[in-house]
Amino acid sequence: MPLPRKAPAPLEYPYFERLPLSTLITDIGCLVTNDPAHGTGPLGLLADAAVVVEAGRIAWVGHAASAPAADEHYDADDRTLIPGFVDSHAHLVFAGDRTAEFNARMSGQAYTAGGIRTTVAATRAATDAELDTNLTRFIEEALRQGTTTIECKSGYGLTVADEARALRIAASHTPETTYLGAHVVAPEYADDPAGYVDLVTGEMLDACAPHARWVDVFCENGAFDGDQARAILKAGQERGLIPRVHANQLSYGPGVQLAVELGAASADHCTHLTDADVAALASSDTVATLLPGAEFSTRAAYPDARRLLDAGATVALSTDCNPGSSFTTSMAFCIAVAVREMGMTPDEAVHAATVGGARALRRTDVGSITVGARADLLLLDAPSHVHLAYRPGVPLTAAVWRAGVREV
Ligand code: NIG
Ligand code: FE
Repeated sequence: MPLPRKAPAPLEYPYFERLPLSTLITDIGCLVTNDPAHGTGPLGLLADAAVVVEAGRIAWVGHAASAPAADEHYDADDRTLIPGFVDSHAHLVFAGDRTAEFNARMSGQAYTAGGIRTTVAATRAATDAELDTNLTRFIEEALRQGTTTIECKSGYGLTVADEARALRIAASHTPETTYLGAHVVAPEYADDPAGYVDLVTGEMLDACAPHARWVDVFCENGAFDGDQARAILKAGQERGLIPRVHANQLSYGPGVQLAVELGAASADHCTHLTDADVAALASSDTVATLLPGAEFSTRAAYPDARRLLDAGATVALSTDCNPGSSFTTSMAFCIAVAVREMGMTPDEAVHAATVGGARALRRTDVGSITVGARADLLLLDAPSHVHLAYRPGVPLTAAVWRAGVREV
């Protein structure tokens, strides 16, 4: 298998123009480093802490009393500093709205993959500028809530030109772009799914691969079966894309085993898992990415995070933000639901929403507050990170830095 062609650019250039020389953030009541070497437990918790940011990166972490001097000073006022959220699964290049479908579901109708085609029609009809405006709005909305890294999939174009433009637009906002031409079979190919798989593995892949880091497939009844998914993911791998899989969302199926077989970075949803699926995830590097917004908004049973964690799997939490099954950009909401409904402790959920997401994106420069990491920081107006679950629905964002630049 070829090595991934692209690692994401560590810092985007416009940041440098806006950076102070160095900033000391001090009087941090509770610091989540995600480095057990720095403090207590897997979150590496430190009280009375300080952090120095320099040239967009973390330059120093420790107790406030021994902090070095810096050019600028920010008083955290005894509040909580955590790594910016890493949302490793989102579908943000789209147009249109599916309020009616949501309303129907809340009146008892079931969610099906078919609703995706409604968004495909609206997305194809939109201009590049409209799609870019929508995407910008969602990324800014997420940033205001502390998300400093976000993945973005195609999948609402389903023609060569529409998939390629979705990825081109996404790539101008994030290096974490995912080719999801295999979201559902395009309407034009309803009677020829094999022909659509040929397109997705051929001409569409050629047009999309230059703009993508990842390849994804919705492996599900009504979308793509195991053999189709394997062919699509392998074709992507041959072009240097790394697989991630929409797996076992609506039913039991081959998605998780396929993800592990192909060394995918992540198997996403993981709602219906056999013991063998759990064991496969636990003994692999494939992260189990759980998306509680989807079960919330489709009124479905939640995945069992406890079972995965107890088996030793790495778990990430993400929004799955999309207009059909999960129209939220709020990682805090996902944390609260995961704690209340999926058997996670608040510490585990915060871990999954930060460094868990980073692992699902194979990133070591984000998701933790350690020397050398990108200075992506979320200051919470709360005495501890537990408040993310304890105070559901309450806006706790006090400040956000992305690559050392104060954004909120
Ligand atoms: O991850 N499962 C497939 N894709 C999305 C839903 C997309 C839609 O309904 O528009 C998801 O939930
Ligand atoms: Fe999704």
